[in-house]
Amino acid sequence: MKIVKSVAEMKNLSLTYHKCGQTIGFVPTMGALHEGHVSLLKIARQNSDITLMSIFVNPTQFGPQEDFEKYPRVFEQDCAKALDAGCDVLFAPTVSQMYPDGFSTYVSVEGITSKLCGISRPNHFRGVTTVLLKFFNIVEPQIAVFGQKDAQQVLVIKRMVRDLNCPIKILTGPIIREPDGFAISSRNKYLTEKERSEVPQIFEGLKKIMEVYENGEKKAGVLKEILLNKYHSLKHIKMEYADIVDFENLKPLEILNTPSLVAVACRTTESKTRLIDNIVLGGVL
Ligand code: PAF
Repeated sequence: MKIVKSVAEMKNLSLTYHKCGQTIGFVPTMGALHEGHVSLLKIARQNSDITLMSIFVNPTQFGPQEDFEKYPRVFEQDCAKALDAGCDVLFAPTVSQMYPDGFSTYVSVEGITSKLCGISRPNHFRGVTTVLLKFFNIVEPQIAVFGQKDAQQVLVIKRMVRDLNCPIKILTGPIIREPDGFAISSRNKYLTEKERSEVPQIFEGLKKIMEVYENGEKKAGVLKEILLNKYHSLKHIKMEYADIVDFENLKPLEILNTPSLVAVACRTTESKTRLIDNIVLGGVL
């Protein structure tokens, strides 16, 4: 596995692959790799000749009170995991390589970024799309793979790629869960023991909704009420939102007769960890 730390070297390497007619499958990450990332690498490997992963804790997508400083940085462990998962190239640029002095250009998808997570994280998606467009220009992948866990992020990226004519196919990998149903995330490391024992309830609520929906209930209000009742009794989890929305435009639904996203975000009470999860009803992301 090649480890590349400079933007210039990465651009040259991509050019070499393109000249040889090899396709690049790209998995952007912020490191602290887990089974979810490994599953995305697998999808990239199945769909391209070269599997390329980036590790970059992107400062522009964190708010001033968020966890940029404490975000887990475990580069040696990540290298071992990436190698083990069959990654060919690991691109890990520094902040100054990605954001040189005087950096002042941002990419902003409007509308869908001000809903759901965009309400409490106003500049988050602008940071995500900015860094990704930069990565897409540096790496020039044919495909890029993202996890359904960040469903809104996937929709925002697809919208940017469509609107700006990026010649990249976006693929989505399913949410990878612990045996008790809790969605795997790099931030799960922050949880206290008490919080960890309660967090499987997040997916239990979503599973309940899925069951009721599959038994014929299509009214969003009824489904949402069931979800909120389930979450109401939790001691270590405070809900930020639990919404049922159209999964193209993220507008709230009354009746679920189009593919729908049931998305939840919450914060734990002790470690103040922000967690998100979702399910898609009547379609695939
Ligand atoms: O999902 C993430 O880990 C990040 O938002 C991404 C896509 C790597 C951009 O920094």
